[in-house]
Amino acid sequence: MTTTAATPAPASRNWLRDSVIGLMWRSPQGRVGLIILLTMFFLGLFAPLITPYDPSVGAFATNLPPGAGHPLGTTALGQDIFAQLLYGARLTLLIGLASGAISTLIGTTMGLTAAYFGGRIGAVINLITNVVLVVPGLPMLIVVSAFLRGTGVLSIILVIALTGWPWGARVLRSQALTLRERDFVHAATMSGESHVRIVFKEMLPNLAGIIAANFFSTALYAVLSEASLSFLGIGDVSKVTWGTMLYWAQAKQALLQGSWWWVAAPGLGIALLGTAFALLNFGIDEISNPKSGHRTKAPKALDPVDGTPVNGNGALLSITNLNAGYSTPEGNVRAVRDVTLDIAPGEFVGLAGESGCGKSTLAFAATRLLESPGVVFSGQSRLNGKDLLRMNAEELRQIRWKEYSLVFQASMNVLNPVIKIREQVYDAMQAHGVKDAATLDRRARELFELVGIRESYLDAYPHQLSGGMKQRVVIAIALALEPKLVVMDEPTTALDVVVQRQILQEINDVRRRLNISIIFITHDLSLLVEMSDRMAIMYAGEIVELASADDIYMRPKHPYTQKLMTAFPPLSGDRERREGIPGRPPSLSLELSGCPFFDRCSLRIEGKCDTQKPALVQVEVGHQVACFLHSGAVDAGKTLNPDLGVNA
Ligand SMILES: Nc1ncnc2c1ncn2[C@@H]1O[C@H](COP(=O)(O)OP(=O)(O)OP(=O)(O)O)[C@@H](O)[C@H]1O
Ligand code: SF4
Ligand SMILES: [Mg+2]
Repeated sequence: MTTTAATPAPASRNWLRDSVIGLMWRSPQGRVGLIILLTMFFLGLFAPLITPYDPSVGAFATNLPPGAGHPLGTTALGQDIFAQLLYGARLTLLIGLASGAISTLIGTTMGLTAAYFGGRIGAVINLITNVVLVVPGLPMLIVVSAFLRGTGVLSIILVIALTGWPWGARVLRSQALTLRERDFVHAATMSGESHVRIVFKEMLPNLAGIIAANFFSTALYAVLSEASLSFLGIGDVSKVTWGTMLYWAQAKQALLQGSWWWVAAPGLGIALLGTAFALLNFGIDEISNPKSGHRTKAPKALDPVDGTPVNGNGALLSITNLNAGYSTPEGNVRAVRDVTLDIAPGEFVGLAGESGCGKSTLAFAATRLLESPGVVFSGQSRLNGKDLLRMNAEELRQIRWKEYSLVFQASMNVLNPVIKIREQVYDAMQAHGVKDAATLDRRARELFELVGIRESYLDAYPHQLSGGMKQRVVIAIALALEPKLVVMDEPTTALDVVVQRQILQEINDVRRRLNISIIFITHDLSLLVEMSDRMAIMYAGEIVELASADDIYMRPKHPYTQKLMTAFPPLSGDRERREGIPGRPPSLSLELSGCPFFDRCSLRIEGKCDTQKPALVQVEVGHQVACFLHSGAVDAGKTLNPDLGVNA
């Protein structure tokens, strides 16, 4: 494979611009919040340079109003209030930020763990969270800090942090529960990403806004709690904080004495800090939501591709007597019934059949991607000789995405909305050991060329792409590790017909170039006939006919296939209205004694087709059919044997 341009120089990165502070600066609210917070921070830090006075020493006349020597006046104990405000900022900020950070860390860990793992772990965490949540906050703070009295600022930070986390944990848990069901998290699981990576890389960025909001509100809660505790005389009142300033002002009856400035200074400080936290909260929300358009993209040039064809002898995928379905309270649904199918290397096999006949279940079960309540009851599915159905989780993780991948109908939803496309393309490769930055970049650009997207879109966010482009990205990701098999379940159904055909054409080109085998499922039979080497026609969970696409189209043998072929417009000629197939397929919860198509078949042989089941046998070279009109072979039948009971 060749391409057109030289490798571009790596995009220059402006560290400051890309940092959280840099990003925050671009949001007006974030900028104001940052200015207030940084001003407080530096005033506290450089307090000794700004004021010559010791905040604790009462060296001046008492209750002086604001004036030249003392810009904020003095206390009833003769201390300089401006000095107290500056020094007080230190501990106030430390308590707020440290308590906020610890509390957020605990809340996030608890909430995410409960949501991600669920089950018993989730239940225990929930119980702890609820217990801490129902205990009233301030009384608990008072009791705990009364015990720790005199043990310093650290204990105040810990007390506040340990009482402030449950609310955040609850919010995080409910958000993470929703997120966990999103397609991109499922896709990350399927692609073999570790739990830690899924939680931190896939889920956490989507929760950044909530976590930040939680951090700033708990920081504010901490500042107010410290003020309340100090005001009640429970905190460490020997230290100068804005809370202890309020305590002493109240204790010395500042307002009654007319020294309003003593209350106003720390009160305003706390209010201003609260405002800064709230503004930063808005700012973080803006930057964590890529739709706000704060991110940039850097267009890139093309690079050579060296696609290595995958070789193999015999069938690449051998599905043998596969029985799969769904375990429901009403009993088992046998959606795939004793299916045997071989896929050769580089072969494009189309799966067709009416809705509900088991196409998706077959594709997912054969690739061990069927999720609960889906169950593989029995059978084998050997990829290059290795039975996917008997592999352990680690073995599966090793080969998923690398040896086979999957693209399904709503695949575009697997793209994480807050992560740049480039990183998502990298993810599957990194999970399988491709670590080198230059290789990742080269490969990503090759893939984009392969699926026909400008590589400048690598640095875009999913919402900046159209549906068709997103689907192409997902196809590019599915091809990232040059798997030998790609299963595509209606990958283009959500797209308009022109885009569908275009993408399909490209997939077919890629398949030929890389010698990839494809199992393709679609309701667009004309497309399938055009693209497929062979087609398998499914009915009621079984393959009833299997032949070359030409044979299926020109010389269908099974009455069901014949009906199906006349039910869609011809590839050329008049596009007249076609007839549907009268009747409905049988319920897949039932055991069927005769031919599953019996009720709808106009050619049925009474007394035979309803009592005996036709076996799928080869009636011509490369043409298998299960119908008594073509062979007398009877399927001895297999009862359901749940010898495996595995799912994804
Ligand atoms: N989670 C489930 N629980 C119970 N039965 C299910 C479940 N999912 C699918 N089924 C049943 O399994 C059968 C096969 O479904 P499947 O999705 O494999 O069909 P399909 O051929 O892919 O259909 P479509 O063309 O509409 O995608 C259907 O009868 C369906 O009702
Ligand atoms: S076996 Fe009988 S009922 Fe079934 S498709 Fe053939 S003719 Fe029709
Ligand atoms: Mg389906």
